[in-house]
Amino acid sequence: MAVIEVVLGDITKERVDAIVTAANESLLGGGGVDGAIHRAAGPRLADAGSAIAPCDPGDAKATPAFDLAAVTFVIHTVGPVWDGGAYGEADLLASCYCRCLEVADSLDVRSIAFPAIATGLYGYPVGPAARIARTTLAATPTKVDLIRLVAFDEETYDALSGRARR
Ligand code: APR
Repeated sequence: MAVIEVVLGDITKERVDAIVTAANESLLGGGGVDGAIHRAAGPRLADAGSAIAPCDPGDAKATPAFDLAAVTFVIHTVGPVWDGGAYGEADLLASCYCRCLEVADSLDVRSIAFPAIATGLYGYPVGPAARIARTTLAATPTKVDLIRLVAFDEETYDALSGRARR
């Protein structure tokens, strides 16, 4: 059973076997955390992404991490675009976390860092998204020993930690 930690910071600074990026279907890179990871990994990441694209919402695919020297793999997952919650967004978001762990297991990854998938540009409300992240990761069998949830701001940190905010 994996240990799940919540930290505040920049995911590109993590020293883990794999980091997850909140990508779009093209896997060519974008803004937000995806942009930060592509900048840190260098242009070969987009080349490798385009070679295995597209990636459907809820799915995940891996590439090397290239210039991210402290990381071996980047796992690209595509979250749901929030459209009010009645269009399968929760199932797709849970599938992202689940598929990332399946891909990680297939690569013998022992430590992995996740951003708060879909809570930025894709607009998924942070509280519900954080609950899905925690419950899905805790319920999914995996060989991974350490799961680090990396929040980029205090609100996301509190939500991922399970703390209520006023
Ligand atoms: N480290 C950790 N988390 C980060 C970082 C970073 N360096 N930069 C941004 N984040 C956080 C955001 O604050 C947010 O909490 O990642 C979370 C997800 O936000 P987005 O990156 O906007 O991802 P998402 O909502 O899934 O939207 C995906 O954005 O950039 C595009 O290509 C991407 O089209 C796709 C879409």
